[in-house]
Amino acid sequence: MATVLKPLEWVLGNFSVDMGIDLGTANTLVCVRGRGIILNEPSVVAVKKGTNEVLLDGMAVGNAAKAMLGKTPGGIEAVRPLRHGVIADFEVTEKMLRYFISKVHEGRSWVKPQVVISVPTGITDVERRAVVHSAERAGARRVYLIDEPMAAGIGVDLPVTEARGSLIVDIGGGTTEIAVLALAGSVVATSLRIAGDEMDGAIVSHLRRYHNLMIGEQSAERIKLTIGSAFPMEQELSMEVKGRDTVTGLPGRATITSIEIREALQQPVRRICESIRQVLEETPPEISADLVDSGCTIVGGGALLSGMADAVADFLGIPAQITADPLTAVARGTGVFLEKLDIFSHVLSADDEA
Ligand SMILES: Nc1ncnc2c1ncn2[C@@H]1O[C@H](COP(=O)(O)OP(=O)(O)OP(=O)(O)O)[C@@H](O)[C@H]1O
Ligand SMILES: [Mg+2]
Repeated sequence: MATVLKPLEWVLGNFSVDMGIDLGTANTLVCVRGRGIILNEPSVVAVKKGTNEVLLDGMAVGNAAKAMLGKTPGGIEAVRPLRHGVIADFEVTEKMLRYFISKVHEGRSWVKPQVVISVPTGITDVERRAVVHSAERAGARRVYLIDEPMAAGIGVDLPVTEARGSLIVDIGGGTTEIAVLALAGSVVATSLRIAGDEMDGAIVSHLRRYHNLMIGEQSAERIKLTIGSAFPMEQELSMEVKGRDTVTGLPGRATITSIEIREALQQPVRRICESIRQVLEETPPEISADLVDSGCTIVGGGALLSGMADAVADFLGIPAQITADPLTAVARGTGVFLEKLDIFSHVLSADDEA
């Protein structure tokens, strides 16, 4: 479907700050035409317990709210309104989007912005509509949806519009998206609900099981970032963790090594590799041939797990590379998409133009 900018749209476009949004389970990023990424904050909102009432305006969304996760005083609750890449709490997501959009669109509230939002592949029509409605109610004039792997592919400059296959893997917080892209479409794609959060969960279980220590999600993530790995390290590491001793119920500590954390992470990492293999097995041979040399490009926060590229390359026997700045790939892609709406309009499916 070709999008021809009408004169009114053109005028409005000059007065609104149009934006691309990567509405992620862990982080929300906003990319503005000509200015790059101007907002990058955790997808966390502080609300009054048992309600959807957002606290103290700006104090309660993003960075400030994430700091409260797991240690909120009575009466306050820090919630993540997205789970596995889709909206789990509609009302809170809308409030979060409204806050982010208005922060970016500051002072120009008289012309609403056009917004491109990336969504996981394979979400239902109901879920797609929920994203569109949330953005509209949060102040968008027009909403376009783009599949996350396509946005990621555009963001890292893969030849997505050419007759050549590219394999992209986006390991986020809630979902891992895997797609083979060619001719501006997905040849094969899948989305699995195993990504960073699942890795954190595996670390929580490991500590409880082998060290009798209860730790929170935030501590588990810190362990993953500090000593987590998917492939043997040149120099293995260790660190001390604190939490609640499950036997005494009192504060306790344990020393853990990167070797045991890799063991704990092995299952989620393996599941991701197996899903990539499945996608490759379904890829038509002509396109498989393209991937022998170009291999697999990994983006998303999970790409930063030490040894991730080695683990994927080792499992699949094709090259694997992590792009520079993998956390912003999808957002950058939505920004490029916004700049070239007329060129990329055929990437949109019919119902995406709200
Ligand atoms: N250095 C690192 N090592 C391992 N994991 C990391 C690292 N840095 C970030 N992560 C993980 O990456 C995840 C966040 O990635 P990202 O921002 O791409 O997710 P998202 O886009 O918000 O989620 P989704 O795409 O699933 O909706 C978190 O689970 C975080 O713990
Ligand atoms: Mg993401």
